[in-house]
Amino acid sequence: MTGRLVQTHVLVTGAGGGIGLAIAEACLAEGARCTLVDRSPAPSDGVALLQRTHSTRVVYLPADVTDTNAVAQLIDAAQTANGPVHTLVNNAAVFDMAPLLESDEASFDHLFAVNVKGMFFVMQRVLQHMVDAGTAGASVINMASQAGRRGEALVSHYCATKAAVISYTQSAALAMAPHGIRVNAIAPGVVDTPMWGHVDALFAKYEGRQPGEKKRQVGLEVPLGRMGTPDDIAGAAVFLASDEARYITAQTLNVDGGNVMS
Ligand SMILES: NC(=O)c1ccc[n+]([C@@H]2O[C@H](COP(=O)([O-])OP(=O)(O)OC[C@H]3O[C@@H](n4cnc5c(N)ncnc54)[C@H](O)[C@@H]3O)[C@@H](O)[C@H]2O)c1
Repeated sequence: MTGRLVQTHVLVTGAGGGIGLAIAEACLAEGARCTLVDRSPAPSDGVALLQRTHSTRVVYLPADVTDTNAVAQLIDAAQTANGPVHTLVNNAAVFDMAPLLESDEASFDHLFAVNVKGMFFVMQRVLQHMVDAGTAGASVINMASQAGRRGEALVSHYCATKAAVISYTQSAALAMAPHGIRVNAIAPGVVDTPMWGHVDALFAKYEGRQPGEKKRQVGLEVPLGRMGTPDDIAGAAVFLASDEARYITAQTLNVDGGNVMS
């Protein structure tokens, strides 16, 4: 532990597993207090482990980020538990895909509800809280994706939601700059998490592949030669949350082994 986040409060959504859980662990290792949010009423095994190992610095609050009333209560509860929020890691999201001509309204509504509406109103609520509290060094990190940089024939709705995350990051950064609050995003490439089990199964269905085949292929195609791990993303989140990134705002940082250059 080097203490880069000592005496800060980091709120992570979608923290039950995958990238969110790894970010929570990395922030705790840097000394932060963490409020961890996911949709299940009870903490996941990973969150429960963090609660055992970092007891007083970890609070789990269940909430569905698509429920704006629940989000309002969540931010109040997070402040009561851990004090003013210094960093929001706006990470909760869902994935789906289908051929464009078969992409249906239900999938559109679900992806936009979680990945865009949930992302935006959690961010808006936390930014209002940060402005009111005048928290020094406050920042937001939204989880975008390489999918937000370029469309894909089979992944239109998800790609569009992640393009929206990049756009909202830029708008919010400009709106919040006068308050000294930074807003950035991370665009992971392909990361080995529970989400990729789902992604691989859908590619198997729509491209007639064997289970596991797409996942192996995308890893081999990464310039650095492998899929990312959740820890690969966590380091970037700690950096963006820390004072080392104090002059960085409105950016979407690619953390993808070289897949996207911008
Ligand atoms: N895994 C990848 O390859 C990859 C690549 C690029 C971007 N991302 C992004 O990284 C983030 C984390 O992805 P991951 O791979 O760890 O996925 P994951 O599915 O492992 O984790 C996502 C978490 O979000 C939670 N969540 C979903 N809907 C929610 C809701 N309505 N309210 C509260 N929580 C909810 C889930 O329960 C889950 O714990 C997401 O924003 C994802 O789009 C992932």
